[in-house]
Amino acid sequence: MSPENQETKQETPKKDVPVQKDPNAEEEFAHFDDAAEAQKEQEARDEKAKQDLELPPDPDALLEVRHLKKYFTLQKTITGKVTRSLRAVDDVSFKLKAGETIGIVGESGCGKTTLGRTILKLHQPTDGQIFFEGEDIAKYKPSQMRPLRTKMQIIFQDPYSSLPPRSTVGGILSEPVRVHKIVERENVRDYVLKIMDQCGLRDYYYERYPHEFSGGQRQRICIARALSVNPKLVVCDEPVSALDVSIQAQIINLLKELQEKNGYTYLFISHDLSVVKHISDRIGVMYLGSMVEFGDKKSIFSNPLHPYTQALFSAVPNPNPDVKMNRIVLKGDIPSPANPPSGCRFHTRCPKAMEICSHITPVYKEYEPGHFAACHCYPQED
Ligand SMILES: Nc1ncnc2c1ncn2[C@@H]1O[C@H](COP(=O)(O)OP(=O)(O)OP(=O)(O)O)[C@@H](O)[C@H]1O
Ligand code: SF4
Ligand SMILES: [Mg+2]
Repeated sequence: MSPENQETKQETPKKDVPVQKDPNAEEEFAHFDDAAEAQKEQEARDEKAKQDLELPPDPDALLEVRHLKKYFTLQKTITGKVTRSLRAVDDVSFKLKAGETIGIVGESGCGKTTLGRTILKLHQPTDGQIFFEGEDIAKYKPSQMRPLRTKMQIIFQDPYSSLPPRSTVGGILSEPVRVHKIVERENVRDYVLKIMDQCGLRDYYYERYPHEFSGGQRQRICIARALSVNPKLVVCDEPVSALDVSIQAQIINLLKELQEKNGYTYLFISHDLSVVKHISDRIGVMYLGSMVEFGDKKSIFSNPLHPYTQALFSAVPNPNPDVKMNRIVLKGDIPSPANPPSGCRFHTRCPKAMEICSHITPVYKEYEPGHFAACHCYPQED
């Protein structure tokens, strides 16, 4: 059963649950075999994934990701056996309903882009299922993906490098419409002008070149290009990070307006929590390739459960000057996903870490309806 379907609910924990320090814990784990425990945990996860594999997809979800993994090979033997890999996305599961926005947050290198690109099959998944409109596309070949390409689009972070410099705006936007036969050939220009209008681009821009535009206008062109093929799912990978703050708001509002008008579904990737808070219905927090917390925006902002989420959220500026900021500064660098720490991957930086955290991986569980977290601060048993 996917984590979101779990029936068992625990008593709602509060974010300021005191850390239970066990004076005997160090002794208890003194002769603990971390490698054997990791092996046991992996087997249990594999078994769970195998059971979930048999479940039918959720008919209410446009996208359902189950136990998705993307490992990059770093080293292999001459016979092709992988000896070292980097776990960029490691066992991620969630569902995205049509018309909603899920925000994915986390520090640089936690696997946000890899997650988005793997869902779109721009990276071949290492393992797991990706149900899009009820079909598992994880093992689809490029030829099988071709008819789905118009339904799944991506908007990149950098509006400068993602537009071909030698084509006019009209040429850039017409090409996918023509290639995918979105409208009759003679209607392409009118169709493109309509999309441009929806994206706040004047009609005389049609004959202009990308270098003649500012970053905000270029990102509007990128949005128009993605939306010109009538997609259902749009992965927005840091679409406003390269823009000035005032322009960021315009682009976010444009994405929201277009969603309301056309019913798009967004997977919105960002490291900026204020932006994610503004646009998302639900939020997933990633750390070192894993989803450590997931829930609807309200419960995740009012009651962040995971210490990592609490630290991230403590850095969001509060517009009310009377509210005192209690910023949690995380110690240490992010470990390498090629060699993640044992137990809870966050234990090397967690302000609430206990002895158990470096030995046993916490279970990813539902603690409030639709609100999941993986942390030993909360009950682990069903
Ligand atoms: N093609 C690749 N080959 C090997 N490693 C890769 C590849 N692409 C990404 N990685 C590694 O995978 C991890 C996750 O990278 P990813 O770009 O998904 O992170 P991110 O959360 O999007 O970071 P940022 O916020 O900086 O964009 C990183 O350690 C990165 O170095
Ligand atoms: S399980 Fe991880 S996040 Fe939770 S207290 Fe331990 S180290 Fe921190
Ligand atoms: Mg990225």
